[in-house]
Amino acid sequence: MINRKILVVDDQKDGREGIANAILSSARQDDSKSLLEKLRPKLSGKNSGGGARFSLDQDIVYDVDTAASGKTACAMIRKSIDNGIPYNLIFLDMRMFGWDGLKSMEEIFKIDKKVQVVLCTEFTDHTWEDISEKVGRRDNFLILKKPFEDMEVAQLALTLTEKYYAEASLRHSQKMETVGELSAGLAHDFNNIIASLQATLSSIEFSLNKYDGDTAFKNELKSDIETMNDAIMEGAGMVQVLLSLSKRQELPLSPVDLNELMERVIKICARSLDKSVEVHYTPSAEKAMVMAYSAQIEQVLLNLCINADHAMTIMRPPGVKHGGKLTIIIQDEVIPVMKRGNITEIPPGKYRCISIDDTGVGMTPKVISQIFDPFFTTKSKEKGSGLGLSMVFNIIQKHKGFLDLYSLPGKGSVFYLYLPFLEK
Ligand SMILES: Nc1ncnc2c1ncn2[C@@H]1O[C@H](COP(=O)(O)OP(=O)(O)OP(=O)(O)O)[C@@H](O)[C@H]1O
Ligand SMILES: [Mg+2]
Repeated sequence: MINRKILVVDDQKDGREGIANAILSSARQDDSKSLLEKLRPKLSGKNSGGGARFSLDQDIVYDVDTAASGKTACAMIRKSIDNGIPYNLIFLDMRMFGWDGLKSMEEIFKIDKKVQVVLCTEFTDHTWEDISEKVGRRDNFLILKKPFEDMEVAQLALTLTEKYYAEASLRHSQKMETVGELSAGLAHDFNNIIASLQATLSSIEFSLNKYDGDTAFKNELKSDIETMNDAIMEGAGMVQVLLSLSKRQELPLSPVDLNELMERVIKICARSLDKSVEVHYTPSAEKAMVMAYSAQIEQVLLNLCINADHAMTIMRPPGVKHGGKLTIIIQDEVIPVMKRGNITEIPPGKYRCISIDDTGVGMTPKVISQIFDPFFTTKSKEKGSGLGLSMVFNIIQKHKGFLDLYSLPGKGSVFYLYLPFLEK
C-alpha cells in the first residue's frame, strides 16, 4: 500500500486542524466521524512522528502529520527522508511566527527537491512570479488563497500526491533508460571481444589436436583451454545480463508453463542455495501458462531465490545462525480494480502470480526505496553488484508484468511477480 504522506504546517492550531481534517474527511464518509474523533489528539501540532491515517478508499491511504513551525517541519522532513518514506506534499501557511511560509519553503526545497508544496496565503503579499524567482523554481508549488473550501484542499491533496508518484516513476524509468543505453553499447563491444576470443581459441584447439608431440604438454594446454572457455562462457552470460538491462532488446515471447519453468529453477536452487535454507514449492494446480521468454524469466526467478538465500545466510548479522525457509507459490490472481501495491500500481486483470517468500533479514523502507536502482547493493563487492533487481524490473516490464514486495526488518521479505494470464 502506498501511503500518501502529507505534512501540514501552520502556527495556528485551527489552521492545521482545518486542512488536516479536510484531507482526512475527503475520504470515505461512513465511519469518518468516530475516526476523526480518535485523530483529534494527534492533530495538536505537538506530534512529530506517528500522525493520522485515513483510508480514502480501499486503495489510497493518507498519512497526515502536522507541525507548528517551519523549523519543526524541516526536522520532520529530514527524518522522513532518513527513514526512506519521504513526505509527498506539504501545506504551508504563509503567515507564521518565526520563519514565514516563504522562508520555510526555501528551506524545505534545500532538503527535498521533489516534494510538492501548497502555500496558503491570506493576502497577496507576494505574487507567484516573485515567489518562483525567490525559490528558483516554478514546478513544485502552488498558491492557495484563503478563504478556501475543504473540497479544494482535498482535490489538491489527491492530485499533487498523484503527481509526486508519477514523477518518481518517471525518474526511475529515465534512470533505467540511461543504464539501458549504456549497457546496450557495452554489450555490443563486449560481444565483439568475446567472439574474437572464441574464434582464436577454437583455432588454437584445432592446431593442438593436430599436434602429436609431448602428451603431458598437450594435456596441460587442453586443460588451460577449458579454463579459458569457461571464462568466455561466463563473459557471454554477462553480455546477456547487459542486454537484458537494455530496452532495445526485443524478446521473442512464446507460451510457457510457469510450473515447468519453476521446476527447472528449483533444481538449480537445490545445487546452488545454502544447505541451511529449506525450500518449499507449491505449483499451481493446473498449468500456469504465460507469454514469456523462458531464459529471462528463469534468470528473474533465480535472482530472487539467490537474494532470498543471501537474506537468510550471508546477510545475517555476525554470530546469528544461517538458515531459514524459502516458500515459493504459483497461483492465479484476479485483480478487480486498480491495486495499489506496496511499490507499484497493478491494473485490473487476470494474472499468474509467483510469490517468493523468505524468513531472512528483511529490509527497511529506506532500503526498499532503492533496491531497483542500478548498482544499489548492501552486500560486499564479491557478493553483489546491485544489478540483480534492476534486471528483474526490466525483464518483468518487457513481459508487461508487475512486481511488488512486502518486507519487515528482522522478519523477512516476500516478492510478488505478476505476469499477464494466458489461457491454457
Ligand atoms: N530478499 C531480500 N531480503 C533482504 N534484502 C534484499 C532481498 N532482496 C534484495 N535485497 C536488498 O536489495 C539489494 C539489491 O538487490 P540486487 O539483487 O539488485 O543486488 P545484489 O543482490 O546486492 O547484487 P547482484 O547484482 O549480485 O544481484 C541487496 O543488496 C539487498 O540489500
Ligand atoms: Mg541479487
